[in-house]
Amino acid sequence: MRTNETIETPLNRRSIRKFKPEAVDSQTVATLEVVAQHAASSQYLQDWSAIRVEDPAIKQAIAEIGHQTYIAEAPLLYIFVADEHRNAAIATRKGVDVHADEFTLNSSYRFSQAQNDAVLALHAMETAAYSLGLGCVILGSVLNDPRKLIATLHLPEFTYPVLGLAIGKPDQAPALKPRMERDDQFFTDFYPADDAQLLHGLDAFDGTVHQYYDLRNTDRPVDAFSDQIANNAVDRGVFSRSVTPVAEDQHFRFDR
Ligand SMILES: Cc1cc2nc3c(=O)[nH]c(=O)nc-3n(C[C@H](O)[C@H](O)[C@H](O)COP(=O)(O)O)c2cc1C
Repeated sequence: MRTNETIETPLNRRSIRKFKPEAVDSQTVATLEVVAQHAASSQYLQDWSAIRVEDPAIKQAIAEIGHQTYIAEAPLLYIFVADEHRNAAIATRKGVDVHADEFTLNSSYRFSQAQNDAVLALHAMETAAYSLGLGCVILGSVLNDPRKLIATLHLPEFTYPVLGLAIGKPDQAPALKPRMERDDQFFTDFYPADDAQLLHGLDAFDGTVHQYYDLRNTDRPVDAFSDQIANNAVDRGVFSRSVTPVAEDQHFRFDR
């Protein structure tokens, strides 16, 4: 494999869930935000925004939504938002009627476009943060209660929260979490017809994953990968409640 500093940054990336209490300086904050803005943007719509959450009471409210105390302790916390609100305002100024059938900025296609942009921007910020010696954790848990999050952040029409990103100086050194064999995830030309090919390295990978200790729960190694997938493959009544219920009303309508 080839290597350089840029390649080493993502190869050494691991989620950080314990931060030193020091603030991230304003120059670093500015750098991270500008890097996020330079991520690619589908059709150049730039249809995402991010809320930098500084108020400890709002951080706490989000930590309660996510059921993760480290959200409140993050020196720097962002919620990335799929945002067609700004573009709707821009279009309105140009005479577009947002209530017309032809209006597209509230469509499911635009939603996934905006979500893609938001994720790319978040990822650019995450990579830049690691390259500066900071640590991060991406936060899907903030969507445990989308309505509450939307209300907490005053998110307007044509917006929807995508993910959180907590950033700070690492106060832990977790092991790198293993990944499956490259051949189990990268295929040439066609998706393999035979599931046996997909599963060929699974037993060995299960063994590798079962040696990994998650610092959130150090008294036993994590479950084998197969067990994690099987557990996530059935509805435990947690995530299914949270997927996208609000998207059907004022925020995004999946009707096209
Ligand atoms: C979309 C997404 C949502 C995530 N949400 C959470 C979260 O809410 N809380 C958390 O502690 N980690 C979260 N993670 C981090 C994953 O658990 C982590 O990336 C995965 O276990 C692999 O570990 P690593 O990042 O250390 O390689 C999330 C990651 C992604 C990509």
